[in-house]
Amino acid sequence: MVNQFIITIDGTSSTGKSTIAKRIAKKIGYVYIDSGAMYRALTYYSIQKNIISKSFFKKDLLINALPSIKINFIKNPISKNLEVNLNGNFIEDKIRSLLVSDFVSELAKLEDVRSYMVKIQHSLGNKKGIVMDGRDIGTVVFPNAEYKFYLDASSKLRAKRRYDELIKENKEITFNEVFENICSRDEIDINRSNSPLKKASDAILIDTENLNLDQVENKILKYLNFSNLNT
Ligand code: C5P
Repeated sequence: MVNQFIITIDGTSSTGKSTIAKRIAKKIGYVYIDSGAMYRALTYYSIQKNIISKSFFKKDLLINALPSIKINFIKNPISKNLEVNLNGNFIEDKIRSLLVSDFVSELAKLEDVRSYMVKIQHSLGNKKGIVMDGRDIGTVVFPNAEYKFYLDASSKLRAKRRYDELIKENKEITFNEVFENICSRDEIDINRSNSPLKKASDAILIDTENLNLDQVENKILKYLNFSNLNT
């Protein structure tokens, strides 16, 4: 087991952050935390409870409900993976839909939502030994993290990668729908006043435009320079 640090991986939508963070965590024996899954879980909850739709967003209802909503990461006995859990239910298979993707950044703009998430994220990180990916992890959640990375690539390429993944999973979706969703989420995430997406000044920028997943992983592992890795 290597020393217990906090490693943050932020960046624009669909840069492969989650895949890379998962791989790195496995390699060094750390816990992987997908902070985007937390915002997606809350969005899924809000859709189910009629709090958000294409025509309305009952922000006060959501804010008042926050203290009663439990979002956590628990090992799923079926997949054996640590998965986001909403009020006792595993919902990983429900939070990647385009509907959730369409609303999630609107919810993530709210200050009360963000401070609710940051509290949970701090408790998940208190023993260190985590790799957490998201948008504000290196800037706001763990500004003193030992290692920070920021991933980026052109929106066209990111949309193409995401579209290919979704098609592989037999999702009925067009390239344009994916492209528009990525651009609109980036726009909201970058321009919001609460914890906007930006590279922490001390984060290492990795442009993934011409790199495959193995190359990105190797680059990060080289920076970490941990000697006793799981092989
Ligand atoms: O990482 P993922 O694409 O699943 O995140 C979904 C959305 O959740 C992002 O577009 C962003 O609006 C929000 N998010 C956030 N802060 C984080 C992680 C995700 O605002 N740390």
